[in-house]
Amino acid sequence: MQVRLAGLPAPRVGIVLGTGLGGLADAMQVQLAVPYAEIPEFPRSTVQSHAGQFLFGTLGGVQVVMQQGRNHLYEGYDPDDVCMGVRCMAGLGIDTFIVTNAAGCLNPQWDAGDLMAITDHINFTGRTPLAGENHDAWGPRFPDMSRAYDPSLVRLAMEQADALGIRLERGVYVGVHGPQMETPAETRMFKRLGADAVGMSTVMEVIAARHLSLRILGFSCLTNKNLPDCMEDAPIEVVIAMANKAGGNLARLIESVVGKLA
Ligand code: HPA
Repeated sequence: MQVRLAGLPAPRVGIVLGTGLGGLADAMQVQLAVPYAEIPEFPRSTVQSHAGQFLFGTLGGVQVVMQQGRNHLYEGYDPDDVCMGVRCMAGLGIDTFIVTNAAGCLNPQWDAGDLMAITDHINFTGRTPLAGENHDAWGPRFPDMSRAYDPSLVRLAMEQADALGIRLERGVYVGVHGPQMETPAETRMFKRLGADAVGMSTVMEVIAARHLSLRILGFSCLTNKNLPDCMEDAPIEVVIAMANKAGGNLARLIESVVGKLA
């Protein structure tokens, strides 16, 4: 079912802004802001760094909707609550979903402050938004996840990063439930499993988005090194400060990628 907002063209691209990445909203020509509090039954974010609203407007000349603030499993929300945002955006007509997050860096060759395009993920939360009766109108019972992150969008992101002089790594994101950070043994395990970044969001929304047949592009802002032999303390203040720092480049990159989708 497609829903129209009176007076506004349907958005083509939906974007979720992760921790500290609010700067992208400043690059947008905002036409309408809808606080989650005004949407019946929409879960409100309990995370202080998240604004909690949808923004409608244009970015790089393309009609977009932005989710400023999201809900996480660690807040106690169900996968369906966590995915309500992306499902609403799909209902409004988006065909491309761009998801961003702050994540710990598991790859010893990279640094805090680096950006990573997500090429694949490991869902380590033990949860899924697709449990229970399938909504056949939304998607199939057993959706394919073999190319969840659209390879052509990753290529486009690499090209645009190159053109802007922004260093962009590529890698695998492992999604954990949280809110506790990882133990050294867990970090060691995730590295061995082939993950490059670890975080507490994204995988639920990406599963729901694949179910809805959306094209997906994902970015991680690597806010802290998370290696067993050099595990920094990563208090939320450090995560937010580093995400804000790297977020400027990510905002420029996403604006330029979206512009190419016109
Ligand atoms: N682990 C899990 N989630 C995170 C991290 C981390 O090191 N950094 C930012 N989000």
